[in-house]
Amino acid sequence: MNGKTGNEPKRHSPGASRDGEPVIHTSASLHDCKLGRFCEVKERVLMRSSTLGDYSYAERHCELIYTQTGKFCAIAADVRLNALNHPVHRVSQHKFTYRANEYFVGKKLDHQFREKRMQEGRVVLGHDVWVGHGAIVLPGVEIGTGAVVGAGAVVTRNVEPYAIVAGTPARFVRWRFEPDVAKRLLRLQWWNWSHDRLADAVDDMAGLEVEEFLDKYDGGIEI
Ligand SMILES: CC(C)(COP(=O)(O)OP(=O)(O)OC[C@H]1O[C@@H](n2cnc3c(N)ncnc32)[C@H](O)[C@@H]1OP(=O)(O)O)[C@@H](O)C(=O)NCCC(=O)NCCS
Repeated sequence: MNGKTGNEPKRHSPGASRDGEPVIHTSASLHDCKLGRFCEVKERVLMRSSTLGDYSYAERHCELIYTQTGKFCAIAADVRLNALNHPVHRVSQHKFTYRANEYFVGKKLDHQFREKRMQEGRVVLGHDVWVGHGAIVLPGVEIGTGAVVGAGAVVTRNVEPYAIVAGTPARFVRWRFEPDVAKRLLRLQWWNWSHDRLADAVDDMAGLEVEEFLDKYDGGIEI
């Protein structure tokens, strides 16, 4: 991460910049966020107290609230990562109970409530996660490395690495790869490779079957 925040100047480019500078559309709104190298944040994305790991991108109209995202995550348009809960146990669940400062002179923001939502409700995505169009991830959910969330899913429970889930509530559809292949990928951790090493490997990533790729790059180490 290079520590860029949403408060710095924004610029627009049709894709990732090749120098690694994050690209943030001028219509995006970011507060207290960190973006890694080669990140892209598209039109009207809203991010609050969230991070995007290197090479990750958020497509149009996404909302990421208190969300930690690993590297190489692809977040499709209209996704909501962390749909916050209102305090249903209170007399009123309306925001005037925790944002009293917006309604009454001399009243304060309920920092404790905000802190609790931020800490206990944080959404965490591993690396190489693909979240399909319009999916909603509820507070506190962790989505493992390599997982896929289907279009329109409502994810209420944690998702295992390399699982594909879909539906409302999201249910397991299938594994993306056989368990031994997933284990080899998790051990290889290609997402931590340098940009130069990725440049050398990208044709094989696109062209080889995953097992061929692993045989070439992990030397066929037994697991
Ligand atoms: C989740 C997804 C990757 C699954 O692909 P797949 O493994 O090829 O799955 P299949 O098409 O074989 O479907 C398997 C089952 O899951 C169901 N299913 C697939 N995607 C679903 C979805 N998004 N929501 C609900 N059910 C879904 C299918 O109906 C099927 O159910 P059945 O066995 O009862 O008939 C894909 O369907 C999807 O949602 N992709 C997201 C596309 C997107 O959002 N693109 C945005 C641009 S980045």
